[in-house]
Amino acid sequence: MDSEQLREEAHKMVDFIADYYKTIENFPVLSQVQPGYLGKLLPDSAPDHPEPLQHVLNDIQEKILPGVTHWQSPNYFAYFPSNSSIAGFLGEMLSAGLNIVGFSWITSPAATELETIVLDWLAKALNLPDDFYSTGQGGGVIQGTASEAVLVVLVAARDKILRRVGRSALNKLVTYASDQTHSALQKACQIGGLNPELCRLLKTDSSTNYALSPDVLSEAISSDITSGLIPFFLCATVGTTSSTALDPLPALGRIAKINNIWFHVDAAYAGSAGICPEYRHHIDGVEEADSFNMNAHKWFLTNFDCSLLWVKDRSALIQSLSTNPEFLKNKASQENMVIDYKDWQIPLGRRFRSLKLWMVLRLYGLEGLRSYIRNHIDLAAYFEELVAQDARFKIVVPRTFSLVCFRVLPPPNSEDHGNKLNHDLLDSVNATGNVFITHTVLSGQYILRLAVGAPLTEKRHVKGAWQILQDKATALLGSL
Ligand SMILES: Cc1ncc(COP(=O)(O)O)c(C=O)c1O
Repeated sequence: MDSEQLREEAHKMVDFIADYYKTIENFPVLSQVQPGYLGKLLPDSAPDHPEPLQHVLNDIQEKILPGVTHWQSPNYFAYFPSNSSIAGFLGEMLSAGLNIVGFSWITSPAATELETIVLDWLAKALNLPDDFYSTGQGGGVIQGTASEAVLVVLVAARDKILRRVGRSALNKLVTYASDQTHSALQKACQIGGLNPELCRLLKTDSSTNYALSPDVLSEAISSDITSGLIPFFLCATVGTTSSTALDPLPALGRIAKINNIWFHVDAAYAGSAGICPEYRHHIDGVEEADSFNMNAHKWFLTNFDCSLLWVKDRSALIQSLSTNPEFLKNKASQENMVIDYKDWQIPLGRRFRSLKLWMVLRLYGLEGLRSYIRNHIDLAAYFEELVAQDARFKIVVPRTFSLVCFRVLPPPNSEDHGNKLNHDLLDSVNATGNVFITHTVLSGQYILRLAVGAPLTEKRHVKGAWQILQDKATALLGSL
């Protein structure tokens, strides 16, 4: 690691990235390559001798970028966003530069302490209950993803109940969530060794806008208890992946409390909006939760990965995830003077991820972040208005944040309720390369999703996306 070489080459790389952002609209948003394309372009073994950086940069331009789907493009409206920002990028750069591995406090005290501080800052910004602050029995931790967050709390909840009822009851533990819950929960149940038949994904429909009904949950719990099973975990979502449905946290939380069930709230995407006073009510009821998760790497200008998890009872996590091998023993840990985040997560090693979140908070400020979120919600409202004005389309569920779910209406004689038509519309729109949107299925209907949330998106991009959708719909409907 020669400092002067680093300076020179890192400058080149920054220039490369800055140019990428400058020209990002020239690329097809959704990569148009075919599977296996790269193997045909690269040699079949690693080089024996060093190559100059410029050769690699040339290859990136010519061979790698065509195979990139441009998540940061202003015309990216797929899935949910995965934000990049100057602050997030600089934080990542510094983290890579320092390259510490902060599993225990002693391995880099600043990494642990900054993480605790920024998670407390965020808890305050979201107005989370005091129990989630590090100053009490709880605290926050940065996980890689929402999937890891739900896995670690599920395992903590599993062990907590098994300590009470005995380990032989593992096969009787029941998990509850709606059928709209992210598949990360199911994966957590699989990894957690739970009985796969007892992961209850309770049915939702349009009558609750795809939110979990407290009555349906209560009935399921009663019936399971009658059958001798043991309810232990409930996952509610604020802003489901398909349609940003809002599970009613206060009512679900009460049911969880009465039944002594661990209550996890997944607000991976929508949690960010909680820093705006006018959207905070969507997480009302979080007071009843045992754990709360939001992905700063989705809609909070923090480069991937940075998933924020708060728990009320950190000892539950630590009891499940802690190990204490000789080679990691040190005075601060042994005397319980510090947090060792290795005991709050799956891996041992961990990156200095709090740096980028801290930089985002400092370089943009909470007010800057609030206007950022509000702007995207306004743009989504604008798109929704455009769709509503065209009688050939329909808004499928009410919009709450920056996701619009809609579909083109089929002719009256359509056999599959327009599913093929909407599927074809999606394909033809994405094939233009000028925009990227994705789909979901709700109540058997194929639906298009347009999620505003890329940092560079402006009104003109939303308007452009709508123009493409209208043009392609005209062509498809005309050919029927
Ligand atoms: C509501 C919700 N939960 C969980 C996830 C999984 O996120 P991750 O990729 O961080 O595991 C997503 C991803 O979009 C999501 O929308």
